Amino acid sequence: MNNKNFYITTPIYYPSGKPHMGHAYSSIVADIFARFKRVEGYNVLFVTGTDEHGQKIEKEAKKNNKDTKIFCDELSNKFKTLTKILNLSNDDFIRTTEVRHHNSVIEIWNKLVDSGDIYLDKYSGWYSVSDEAFYDEDEIELQEGKKISKTSGSSVEWVEEESYFFKLSSWEKKLLEHYKKNSEFILPTSRKNEVISFVEKGLKDLSISRTSFSWGIPVPKNSKHVIYVWLDALTNYISALNFPDTDNEKYKNFWPADVHIIGKDILRFHAVFWPAFLLAAKLPLPKKIFGHGWILSDEKKMSKSLGNILDPIEIIEKYGVDQLRYYLVKEVSLGNDGSISMDNLKNCINNDLANNFGNLCQRVFSFIKKNCNNRIPENKNNNEIDKKLLDNLNKNIPNLINLMNKQNLNEYIKMVVGFSFEANKYFNDSEPWALKKSDQARMNSILNTVTQQIKNISILLYPIIPNSVKKVFNTININESDIKISNILNQNILNYKIELKDLEILFTKIENDN
Ligand code: ME8
Ligand code: MG
Repeated sequence: MNNKNFYITTPIYYPSGKPHMGHAYSSIVADIFARFKRVEGYNVLFVTGTDEHGQKIEKEAKKNNKDTKIFCDELSNKFKTLTKILNLSNDDFIRTTEVRHHNSVIEIWNKLVDSGDIYLDKYSGWYSVSDEAFYDEDEIELQEGKKISKTSGSSVEWVEEESYFFKLSSWEKKLLEHYKKNSEFILPTSRKNEVISFVEKGLKDLSISRTSFSWGIPVPKNSKHVIYVWLDALTNYISALNFPDTDNEKYKNFWPADVHIIGKDILRFHAVFWPAFLLAAKLPLPKKIFGHGWILSDEKKMSKSLGNILDPIEIIEKYGVDQLRYYLVKEVSLGNDGSISMDNLKNCINNDLANNFGNLCQRVFSFIKKNCNNRIPENKNNNEIDKKLLDNLNKNIPNLINLMNKQNLNEYIKMVVGFSFEANKYFNDSEPWALKKSDQARMNSILNTVTQQIKNISILLYPIIPNSVKKVFNTININESDIKISNILNQNILNYKIELKDLEILFTKIENDN
């Protein structure tokens, strides 16, 4: 059995407008976990994409006077371009308008029909096009004469139409059992509790088809109906594995998914509907659903009407992609809502990246260039201080792995930044510049130790700031493929024979008026 496979996904985003910082956030977070698992030695599949059917997209295309498919092509492309700009390591980009996905959705539908979980009836109730969600009366409130969803704030309309239903109510007990048996199925725990209390209040059957528009996958044998966009969209997680071919390697290696990274806004769809569909279809459930919090812009939720939407591309052009990646996961607590501001971003770039890690690399490598013939000194004589520095990181490797496997990204980064801080202090305190004449052997030990530690910290930072770390590894002549946790303990990975290459600038300090 190969348990060294790891499958991670982002939500597939609606290409109804251009991507914003919230989308970038989920994708960056997922990318960091994907990269970390590769560094840990796993065979990783990382999938993202776009969710292109449904009334919301159809409406938006009409508003823009565009053919719906052309509209999707254009906007989906913007999301695809963003994956490059964010330096995501995704292995696939799935679009729900693709044939591979269509086949997969039809198969799921047929399975739900076969299991007796689908019946035809009439839906009457509230619907939010913006959320593509049905809401109960008690989830609605009146605001300025308009009915809106209490949770999302988006406006709802009254819908009455013939609809196929999924027997969600009959899966209530099984779902609750699953949540209780698998305590990490929904994380963070606060989200799990939210879901449990929602399900305990009782589940109603779910409308899973619509007839009032046509942009979607037609229901087999009744093409008056299109399949509900959420049933369609959730299936992407297995259509990317070539479902319904459950004998193919991809499906066999990667399903069930290890973790679906999502925002808390779409928790119910992932933690209630998706597992219920899978249970009914007799397919295994994903191992974990992690619902992160909201990125707020100046304390408020980003929205078009507030005009406070942050554009990740603009910020990256100005400050750099690693800078944005680092900032988003260092300063925003993953499970909670977090405000981001340009002032904090600048401080973070200056303090953590430029002054701390960047400065460490810069100083050490230029010292080696000047004083050691531009080669890392070989050394077999570490003293207690050197050993302590290295051991402190080494002994924490299991902790660090554990933190990442629990999606405790913030603690992980804090710890790694701490090592960088320690290494800087070690370099200062041991004053190798004072030893050049008096004790070269000791000077060499210091330089060897600090370079080992730069290598170790770089391996740990690689998932977060891959471009910058690649520059460091380039300088010390180590290949990207050797960026592995196992090479933290491997001191022989350093090359003592070849000259160091010049370090490209890692992080430029941001002046205040910038
Ligand atoms: O819901 N802060 O797509 P969507 C943090 N197509 N994350 C945010 C955010 C914010 N302010 N805004 C958006 C959909 N996100 C469906 C998903 S999955 C089978 C179908 C992120 O374009 C977050 O991950 O509305 C959220 O869940 C997702 O974008 C919603 O993107
Ligand atoms: Mg949304």
